Amino acid sequence: MDIKLIDFQKHIDDRGSLIIAEYNKEIPFLVKRVYYIYGVSDDKKRGFHSHKNLKQINIGIAGSCKVMLTDGKEKTEVTPDNPAKGLYIGHNVWREIYDFSKDCVLLVLASEVYDETDYIRSYEEFLKSVF
Ligand code: TYD
Repeated sequence: MDIKLIDFQKHIDDRGSLIIAEYNKEIPFLVKRVYYIYGVSDDKKRGFHSHKNLKQINIGIAGSCKVMLTDGKEKTEVTPDNPAKGLYIGHNVWREIYDFSKDCVLLVLASEVYDETDYIRSYEEFLKSVF
């Protein structure tokens, strides 16, 4: 499955923490879009799609949530709850996001501008596209 956890650069001292992610180091694509999700109640689920081309990095800036990822064969669950780590999600990965804490802020760095035609929003269609 085209996913990985990325450790960002950390500068931590008695003044607090400074975290850095740079193109060609921690971020393997040029960031064309940034968005963030917050204020999600714990009974709500998001995601439920894959992308044809877009790659992204999810960062749990505050709080936590859970991300289920599958390529149609393997399935795994990741908890982005550390602002110093990024969850890279590449092509052909179906994701579902749930169990948001009240204070969760999930930051997304995306390789493409918004394009609805890059989304696959039906799990059946996703399975057809990968097998
Ligand atoms: P949606 O894809 O449902 O979010 P999630 O994957 O987190 O569940 O997006 C919600 C709405 O926002 C939907 O109408 C599409 C729109 N949207 C944009 O217009 N631009 C964007 O960059 C994103 C991420 C979503």
